[in-house]
Amino acid sequence: MAVLDDLAASLEGAITARTPDLLSRKPVDRYIRLLDEIPTASYAEQAPETQQWCEEISREHGQATLESYHKLVLRTLMTGSESRAMGKCYPDSIRGLFAKEFQIITEELSYKSQNCYVYSQDQFCKDLGICRQILIPCGVQLAATVKRLPLRYFITTRVRHSVLLVDFVCRKLGSFGPLFNYYNHRRAFLEFNPDGWKACYLRTAELLQLNPSVRGVFGSSWWFDPKVAEVSPRFGFIRELPEEHGARVFNLGEDEESTQNALINSLERQRLHSAGAYKPKRYLMIWARNDLLHWAARER
Ligand SMILES: CC(C)(COP(=O)(O)OP(=O)(O)OC[C@H]1O[C@@H](n2cnc3c(N)ncnc32)[C@H](O)[C@@H]1OP(=O)(O)O)[C@@H](O)C(=O)NCCC(=O)NCCS
Repeated sequence: MAVLDDLAASLEGAITARTPDLLSRKPVDRYIRLLDEIPTASYAEQAPETQQWCEEISREHGQATLESYHKLVLRTLMTGSESRAMGKCYPDSIRGLFAKEFQIITEELSYKSQNCYVYSQDQFCKDLGICRQILIPCGVQLAATVKRLPLRYFITTRVRHSVLLVDFVCRKLGSFGPLFNYYNHRRAFLEFNPDGWKACYLRTAELLQLNPSVRGVFGSSWWFDPKVAEVSPRFGFIRELPEEHGARVFNLGEDEESTQNALINSLERQRLHSAGAYKPKRYLMIWARNDLLHWAARER
């Protein structure tokens, strides 16, 4: 806490030295309230007013001031993390991960700068989401609670796909939501292996246990594509483990982002893609709460 206080004093000092009245005209607490007021569809979404504030701060005082301001927003959220957690149900394992994330985010605040604390940076949006506790760290994935499975997954020209998806939702989930939505967590890259994923699925089970209204978990990515088990066998487990225990995957087709993500690190996948032997596709994976909980109970 002392580190956060020191940090706040130095950030406030730096901002006030450059722009004496900024923090009284645009108080950080008000900025956070504006963010909290939007019914968030995604961790990267901004409220119209905060977007306007960002444009004004950047235009009038420069991007460096906006980044210092955003650091102060993160720091303020972390200072108030306990009251923000009130009424939320986190298992101890997740509480521990929140503490770890806050420690890393705090350390980074003192040395990361220049184009890191703006909305165009996914890591900033994710850090903001973690500090606002709309993203829950589960290890290799972050989980957001969504009211229902997005409609876009049902809208497709492949009628069979839509029928199978609706059938799965009715039989296994019982309703369209609420659900946990997985997002990749780059900071936990070292856990991108079978043990790391298994730990993530087990923490999700603990989270589901404490949140009985949540119907299950879903994620959409190139790594849930069954073809990945052929082209990169060491990633097969990401889909196989849930699928062997009741989860289903649904083909969402090709898109630029998935192709880029699938190919970015792997020369082998790039080679197969160039040879026409691999076309990355996005797949939706859904694991219903009862199936996930049954698997987790047997694992423990
Ligand atoms: C998902 C991701 C983190 C996995 O990274 P990774 O563990 O390094 O795995 P990759 O297959 O991408 O690895 C790259 C290369 O390192 C090698 N490698 C890395 N770790 C290895 C290991 N433990 N054992 C063997 N080879 C390994 C692989 O051989 C691979 O090269 P190759 O496929 O040409 O043989 C990475 O692909 C990534 O950052 N992608 C972009 C982000 C993304 O996909 N986001 C999805 C959002 S839905």
